[in-house]
Amino acid sequence: MGKFSQRNLLGIKNLTRDDIELVFETADNFKAIINRPIKKVPSLRDVTVANIFFENSTRTRISFELAQKRLSADVVNFSASSSSVSKGETLIDTVKNILSMKVDMVVMRHPAPGACIFLSKHINAQIINAGDGTHEHPTQALLDAYSIKEKLGSVKGKKIAIVGDITHSRVALSNIYCLQKLGAEVMVCGPTTLIPKYISSLGVKVEHDLMKALNWCDVANMLRIQLERQDIKYFPSLREYSMLYGLDKQRLKSLNKEIVIMHPGPINRGVEITSDVADSKHSIILDQVENGVATRMAVMYLLASQK
Ligand code: NCD
Repeated sequence: MGKFSQRNLLGIKNLTRDDIELVFETADNFKAIINRPIKKVPSLRDVTVANIFFENSTRTRISFELAQKRLSADVVNFSASSSSVSKGETLIDTVKNILSMKVDMVVMRHPAPGACIFLSKHINAQIINAGDGTHEHPTQALLDAYSIKEKLGSVKGKKIAIVGDITHSRVALSNIYCLQKLGAEVMVCGPTTLIPKYISSLGVKVEHDLMKALNWCDVANMLRIQLERQDIKYFPSLREYSMLYGLDKQRLKSLNKEIVIMHPGPINRGVEITSDVADSKHSIILDQVENGVATRMAVMYLLASQK
């Protein structure tokens, strides 16, 4: 097996195709392990990991923590709301204090784009980006691409439509990089105001008509409207958004083919996706969550193996 090219996982942008495939191969092994009655392996014994979350999270935080526990790492959790950050401490000071307690790896979520890149220049511990503002969310993209591969046999040559709030989504950017490196064709779809002007320079197709995007794609990844990151109004109302861009059974039925439905969560049922679609056999939303643990185990194992 090859070696992972990066010391940290700051984004998908700097990964090679071989890195991504190595994560997938490793994740296959871990997926087999976590489906056994005894789910724990000693791979990260004596490695201490700090999960430092400056932004809310349910899935990602639990998924990382479970992955760490299944690898037998020692884990400490930190969330900004209950910490000295609210007393005015800087990011570097907070993290340096945690690291002086001999932490080897940091998993960080932060609202500022580039926060993990900045931190990586100031600390020696290995860093995994668990989402930095509107920038990247690399482990989400890895688990998404892994789930597509599992469902369709490969990612190469597949057509993936990413639908929704592309401007404010870190999942969109990481997915674009990851899927393109694996040889997929990527389209983004949404209202003009939620699609950044630079996006076509990344080599993705842009479509504003949901039905055209659905007719084109093999997989639709439905993103949430990131209202918490929107400081102005980008569309008249959520009702209008869901009339134009919401995925419902009727729209799915009107296609003369089957497509795979994905969503990174949290779902806003009735806005970007209706319940009957989210819970249908076309949806692999819960497979994505399951694969998140194996994929994150793979990433941490590969990074820890470099030392
Ligand atoms: C995403 C995130 O936080 O960027 N969620 C996740 O990690 N599962 C997407 C979102 O919040 O909509």
